[in-house]
Amino acid sequence: MRYFAKITLLSFLLSPFAQSTTFAQEFNKETAVQEVKAITKAFAGSLQSELQGAMKSGGPLNALNVCNVEAMPITAKSAENSNALISRVSLKNRNPANVPNDWQRAVLEDFDKRAADGEDPATMASATVVKTDDGKHQMRFMKATPAGGVCLACHGQQIDPELQSKLDELYPEDKATGYSLGEVRGAIVVIKDY
Ligand code: HEC
Repeated sequence: MRYFAKITLLSFLLSPFAQSTTFAQEFNKETAVQEVKAITKAFAGSLQSELQGAMKSGGPLNALNVCNVEAMPITAKSAENSNALISRVSLKNRNPANVPNDWQRAVLEDFDKRAADGEDPATMASATVVKTDDGKHQMRFMKATPAGGVCLACHGQQIDPELQSKLDELYPEDKATGYSLGEVRGAIVVIKDY
């Protein structure tokens, strides 16, 4: 009798029904937040190292090429590696592809408000979970990217004229200049379904 009960339990646990229910129960926001944070950190790290390397070897004019040519492929590669959607957005975007959608805009506006209230943009983030049409949990994570000293060469108030004319050429609708140190330049967005 006992043996039979064990077999029944075992076959239930192995059945697709049991597996799908355990799967659904397994969603844990804290774990998901840790995961998207790690994805964000790895992505920011690869961008940063490319940028810093290029700045060191040839200054902002050389690095401009990296940002212009490499930013999108680095983003695509990080997204592929982590099975997530990754993008960068800004209320004052340089690349027209980096316009925020409605919920991203709301978060960016909130970041600006929080910064105005004295919160440090370096540690500012937002994590929201929504249900998708097919019943999954969608983690929507955004991390603020503050304008550090190195960023101001290309996003600041005093931009080298040669660099400026390159920017004008590459991004005729550029809104991403005029920042001062510590302002929220934009955000990294990581979207992952569970
Ligand atoms: C060498 C010039 C240069 C430097 C330095 C630089 N950026 Fe940018 N930034 C760019 C370019 C060019 C783009 C557009 C990239 C593209 O076309 O995908 C960009 C785009 C962005 C975007 C995406 C949103 C948008 O406006 O299109 C963010 C966010 C951003 N930069 C933040 C930063 C931060 C934060 C730093 C400092 C750590 C920084 N940048 C340093 C040139 C630079």
